[in-house]
Amino acid sequence: MSTEPSSPTPRFGVWLIGARGSVATTAIAGCAAVAAGLHPPTGMVTEAPPFTTCGLPSLSSLVFGGHDTVDCPLPKRAEHLAAGGVLPHGLPAAVGAELAAADREIRPGGPLPGDTSRSDEEWIEAFAADIRAFVRRQGLAGAVVVNVASTEPAPTDGTLPPSSLYAAAALRAGCPYVNFTPSTGLHHPSLASLAASSGVPYAGRDGKTGQTLLRSVLGPMFAQRALAVRAWSGTNLLGGGDGAALADPAAAAAKNAGKERVLADTLGAAPQGEVHIDDVPALGDWKTAWDHIAFDGFLGARMVLQTTWQGCDSALAAPLVLDLARLLLRAREAGLTGPRPELGFYFKDPDGDASSALGEQYPALMAFATRLRDDV
Ligand SMILES: NC(=O)c1ccc[n+]([C@@H]2O[C@H](COP(=O)([O-])OP(=O)(O)OC[C@H]3O[C@@H](n4cnc5c(N)ncnc54)[C@H](O)[C@@H]3O)[C@@H](O)[C@H]2O)c1
Repeated sequence: MSTEPSSPTPRFGVWLIGARGSVATTAIAGCAAVAAGLHPPTGMVTEAPPFTTCGLPSLSSLVFGGHDTVDCPLPKRAEHLAAGGVLPHGLPAAVGAELAAADREIRPGGPLPGDTSRSDEEWIEAFAADIRAFVRRQGLAGAVVVNVASTEPAPTDGTLPPSSLYAAAALRAGCPYVNFTPSTGLHHPSLASLAASSGVPYAGRDGKTGQTLLRSVLGPMFAQRALAVRAWSGTNLLGGGDGAALADPAAAAAKNAGKERVLADTLGAAPQGEVHIDDVPALGDWKTAWDHIAFDGFLGARMVLQTTWQGCDSALAAPLVLDLARLLLRAREAGLTGPRPELGFYFKDPDGDASSALGEQYPALMAFATRLRDDV
């Protein structure tokens, strides 16, 4: 990022939709911890070469704010996450000032189900005004909006769901937009022309952090070895807010569509088998994802591969949220606009015509880094 020698280092906003959730809280606390040198940036692709020479905004230049529909203060939310082992013990106190500063920049979100107090246009304008006021108040050089709110069911009646109201507000405020969830966001048909004319870069949908990450590696492996996958079944056990939201079959259907798309794309056709998501509140943020893959080898020999992924969901997601925020801010500065299929590496259901195979997505991400570096 080029600045006059005497000018202060520019700061950039990261406006999180669902700013009091597990992923958002982990991203805010983690950014402060890594920036202060308290922890290494494990899991952050943008802290490794070639991104270190691409002019990305530094972690210490990021300022957080956002919308949420609950009012539990961020420092308290972080304490809950530390008690559950998601954040290291002592971290909430060590980054308490940064959590409190972000908490002061969180505004009430909406609309909750059944809320008819405002029209869609009024919601969009109110959200956009909140984002613009944040940028002005903090003297920011720009801001990116990242959706990490609870997964919504796909709309069935043509109305704009909350995620789409926020996406429209981001574009109206002139901000790049990332949809880290399977919710509709910018994919609503009535936002197509707004997205096309927005002049900002955007990326989505649904961060690829565990089971689907593995699928995007293993699917191409079976196809490349000419092994016939007969069935691919999966079960996820998780708790926390995400587990509770995905207990709604309509919300889970939105999530599972992305997981299944990866298999259909990489294997050429969707195999038999389903994905199930079970809410197990006692597990909190700790997810177990089990996949059972039945396949045929030479002369019809029947074989099975089983994988068990035991992950801490927010610890997997937060570094990707920080990566995406920095990449979109930098893309905006480099004058890139529209959907960014180069970022398909990060998503279950990538925008544009991106491949679903991780082995093809990584070179595309590296080519993106070269493009950003050439712009420095
Ligand atoms: N590994 C991962 O953790 C992972 C991977 C991919 C996608 N995601 C997605 O990220 C999202 C966040 O996950 P989480 O574990 O932090 O969930 P969470 O339940 O802890 O947090 C979601 C937050 O969104 C808020 N919210 C709900 N409706 C809102 C609205 N209309 N406006 C503003 N805020 C609203 C909730 O109050 C809550 O604070 C989910 O959609 C999840 O599916 C997570």
